[in-house]
Amino acid sequence: MEVNHDFKTVATLLLKSKKTVAFTGAGISVESGIPPFRGNGGIWNQYDPKILELDFFMQNPHHCWPLIKTLFYDFFDDKQPNAAHRILARWEKEQLLTVVITQNIDHLHHLAGSKNVVEFHGTSQRLVCLECDFFTEDTPGYLLKLPPTCPNCRSVLKPDFVFFGEGIPREAYVRSMEAMADTQLLLIIGTSGEVSPANQLPYIAKRNGAAIVEINPEPSNYTNALTDFYLQGKAGEILLELDRMIHHEQQLQQ
Ligand code: APR
Repeated sequence: MEVNHDFKTVATLLLKSKKTVAFTGAGISVESGIPPFRGNGGIWNQYDPKILELDFFMQNPHHCWPLIKTLFYDFFDDKQPNAAHRILARWEKEQLLTVVITQNIDHLHHLAGSKNVVEFHGTSQRLVCLECDFFTEDTPGYLLKLPPTCPNCRSVLKPDFVFFGEGIPREAYVRSMEAMADTQLLLIIGTSGEVSPANQLPYIAKRNGAAIVEINPEPSNYTNALTDFYLQGKAGEILLELDRMIHHEQQLQQ
């Protein structure tokens, strides 16, 4: 796959597409100051992913919760959406983008104004009890004392994002499969394609005839396997360039 900087072709595809889906990973939040999980500066290069293995977490909440709080709450606290999140939100308003399916739990797509967002790996915004049906969005309050416990049954509360060994939230799974069934254009932005079953979604879109555009500074598992247009670079920079090209093309068509 030679590097294809053909922004004009991709801009034309975006303008013609009747349904476009963005599939995002940790890379789209790197320019917001949130490190990715793998590759340069990746979280799993410094921390043991064991803390997000469900069995290990349930047996060692006093060990896991301080690290989880540092990594996914304290560190996320002051992070803001970057140009990439904001452009996707505006494209939704301009009906250039139908839905964002994100693997991220940082809530930055919502903060940028995207309304139609599927959180395939859940969210850090809620804590849930696995023993009863208690849940809360008052994460700051419950994280004052670790590990947070359920007010109903005293069990340890868990972040409402998917741990290794846990299933995908049913509604997110169904909405993602529906999106991939008939999208004409899939934008894969900032994901290594390492984690299943999320990493299977682009293959479903491809099988259903979607054109695949990938935005990533480094080649990923998708680049030589199913990507049609590989725009090599940072999400914020590439999307700014694409956005400029789209509006240039729209002026030409007027
Ligand atoms: N713009 C776009 N992509 C970037 C940028 C950037 N500025 N910086 C890095 N990337 C790319 C990296 O090259 C890499 O391909 O983002 C990707 C990040 O890959 P991962 O860290 O593996 O993140 P992701 O694919 O989202 O991981 C999937 O793994 O640990 C689990 O649940 C976690 O949702 C996560 C899942």
